[in-house]
Amino acid sequence: MSRPDNSIDHVHLVDHPLVQHKLTLMRKKDASTNNFRTLLNEVSMLMAYEVTRDMPMQDVEIETPLETMTAKMIDGKKLVFVSILRAGTGILDGMLSVVPGARVGHIGLYRDPKTLQAVEYYFKMPKDTQERDVVVVDPMLATGNSAVAAITRVKALKPKSIKFVCLLTCPEGIATLRKMHPDVEIYTAAIDRQLNDHGYILPGLGDAGDRIFGTQ
Ligand code: URA
Repeated sequence: MSRPDNSIDHVHLVDHPLVQHKLTLMRKKDASTNNFRTLLNEVSMLMAYEVTRDMPMQDVEIETPLETMTAKMIDGKKLVFVSILRAGTGILDGMLSVVPGARVGHIGLYRDPKTLQAVEYYFKMPKDTQERDVVVVDPMLATGNSAVAAITRVKALKPKSIKFVCLLTCPEGIATLRKMHPDVEIYTAAIDRQLNDHGYILPGLGDAGDRIFGTQ
């Protein structure tokens, strides 16, 4: 049976019931920090499953207990997860637990509270990016400014491909990212109604970083 295609205009909505159920639990304001972090970890593993669906595989010869066979393997080292600090860490952990060989990059960006523009304070990427596929992760694609800034920086290193994974987004965030980086596929568990005047997603789940780290 073929899978329903939930990709519209380079946006892949991961609407698997397990993802949706866990996302609903995360949205609840009384979810504890520990519970929120655990759920984000689990959702991220499931999102990793979708985002790596077209990863190249190679044939390798192995010995089963009964005979020799040619089997498929991925080369996790060809993949780089780039976490937008600090909230990206929450997704990164889950993704690394299913692709442990992946390399990791970090981009430190904070949002200027007045202009809502992204300001960079840290950038570290693995070597030889030209040979790798990059997945940039951040739980919230809200104004889109951080995602655009991060992807612009990564693109300058000329990776083979770039995808963006978030937990939640909204029409404004998608529009900004699509306008600036139309070639980048977006993976999200939900597209919420709108942004508020402070750049928060509604109905959303609040400040993802505060909820992951308990810093509110
Ligand atoms: N960042 C968050 O953490 N939450 C939002 O709703 C928007 C941006």
